[in-house]
Amino acid sequence: MLALLGRSALRFTALKPGCLVRPVAPTKLPGRYLAHQKSLPRLPVPPLQQTLERYLLALEPIVSQEELESTKQIVKEFGQKAKLISGVLDFKTMIDNETLPVESLGGNPLCMNQYYQILSSCRIPGSKSDSVVNYSQTKKPTHITVVHNFQFFELFVYNSDGTPLTVDQIYMQLEKIWHSSLQTNKEPIGILTTGHRNSWANAYNNLIKDKVNKESVKCIQKSIFTVCLDAPVPKVSDELYMSHVAAQMLHGGGSRWNSGNRWFDKTLQFIVGEDGSCGLVYEHSPAEGPPIVALLDHVFEYCNTSVMVRSPMIPLAMPRKLRFNITPDIKRDIEKAKQNLNMMVRDVDIKCFVFQHFGKDYVKSQKMSPDALIQVALQLAYYRIYGEPCATYESASLRMFHLGRTDTIRSATVGSSVFVRAMDNPQLQSQEKVALLKKAVQMHRAYTDMAIRGQAIDRHLLGLKLQAIEDLVRIPEIFMDTSYAVAFHFNLSTSQVPAKIDCLMCFGPVVPDGYGVCYNPMEDHINFAVSAFNSCAETNAAKLAHFLEQALVDMRELLIQTPNSKL
Ligand code: COA
Repeated sequence: MLALLGRSALRFTALKPGCLVRPVAPTKLPGRYLAHQKSLPRLPVPPLQQTLERYLLALEPIVSQEELESTKQIVKEFGQKAKLISGVLDFKTMIDNETLPVESLGGNPLCMNQYYQILSSCRIPGSKSDSVVNYSQTKKPTHITVVHNFQFFELFVYNSDGTPLTVDQIYMQLEKIWHSSLQTNKEPIGILTTGHRNSWANAYNNLIKDKVNKESVKCIQKSIFTVCLDAPVPKVSDELYMSHVAAQMLHGGGSRWNSGNRWFDKTLQFIVGEDGSCGLVYEHSPAEGPPIVALLDHVFEYCNTSVMVRSPMIPLAMPRKLRFNITPDIKRDIEKAKQNLNMMVRDVDIKCFVFQHFGKDYVKSQKMSPDALIQVALQLAYYRIYGEPCATYESASLRMFHLGRTDTIRSATVGSSVFVRAMDNPQLQSQEKVALLKKAVQMHRAYTDMAIRGQAIDRHLLGLKLQAIEDLVRIPEIFMDTSYAVAFHFNLSTSQVPAKIDCLMCFGPVVPDGYGVCYNPMEDHINFAVSAFNSCAETNAAKLAHFLEQALVDMRELLIQTPNSKL
């Protein structure tokens, strides 16, 4: 499960009951006016965009050009709506029409299949193994699901002529959903999807025994994606805000907060908080991070364009609330899932930070690979805390191959091991350290090139091991060896998820005593998310984050100090 959060938050205007002006009782009119009084139309509320455009026009003759420009920006932000849904539908059109530009890596075209797996799809729990079903292969679904206060709704996002609903239409539909679900549902049905996969598979069979429940679950599974309108969460300090939002996106904060406001098997769930925080959580099986981020880049771009499309006047039907019949057995499953989830939520420790000292442009100016330098810094940070390197995983894309997913870049290389030992050795000259740093970076980059060309070791070894298990032959010694266990116990599980927009993805560690580190290198800064488990006394996300920041700063200092480092 990965979560992604945007720093430039999409604004969602919370619609709350209550009125801004106190209603005044109408004055009693003389009888002769009454007849035509009743026939007068009600005062219309003009479309917001129209009013804003006219407001700017009215300002033009009376304010300076500078004031006008500044007001235009303010007006733009004020007028922004839940355009998010329209942006995703716009991206969907490109998928449906097969007009998405083919991506490339080093001049080689990449497999685009993952883009076709992220919408209208869902993971389904199974007793032996789960499956991922993509519903767009047959009759393409035309609805999304919206969840608010643990209540799910089916929202059709296309008109009968096949055109997508306009931003205003979607907004009105969301408003209806919001108003009809002001009370929190007693049973957070979505929490079932947080259970251990075996428990969830049992609970799932139990749940869908009921025809109404089965139909509601199907509606969620088939929907194009889900939008979660979250309840407010306690305020935190500015310093903690980013990490707090990341946790909300990743797990929803536990059964007391928004974890029941999700269907975690759904491939794509967009989350909008009342404070304007906005992000998504995605189920990892169908795709890696890059296609998800490409979608988000598109949505952000879309949100910044101000295309005004007038909505047809035909009123739209109220979105259908999905019903669930909660039997005592289902209630028991929900309670169990709540307990399990709350334990997991308490255990997750996330630290997000923005490394401000430099970004990928500086590293490129040093003729080094930014990704490799970040990975070597991670090795240094880890070594400084633990005094030894550890098995480290970095995702390498295999999309240069048909249906390729990932292999592993093993970042703990011989080169990084020599460098991290040398870095704090006072006996060594700066020049020697710089040379070792550059060698480590080159070695990492060479591993990356090997991995993306399908020549890495991890997937090959895994395939051989699984083949042996499937064929019921004696498991070869190589897989029973202690070294194999060490090599596959990834204390550092890392991934670069680059984006055009200033955002960040996060995920959890893959072993109980490990870290998850995700980063997005921007031109002049780097966004990092570090995670660990509170139950492990030896790990601490904030500590690794601190050491990582220090390692990057020290490495740059080293390059600055050394005359031939060409700064
Ligand atoms: N000198 C100057 N510039 C250099 C350089 C050098 N020696 N080495 C690299 N660069 C430049 C590159 O040309 C590139 O430039 P661009 O920003 O103009 O495109 C930039 O630095 C970044 O390159 P680098 O930091 O080496 O990384 P990368 O973009 O090649 O990415 C991986 C490396 C491993 C992240 C990538 O190959 C990959 O596999 N990504 C997918 C990972 C994934 O799937 N993650 C999600 C898992 S859920």
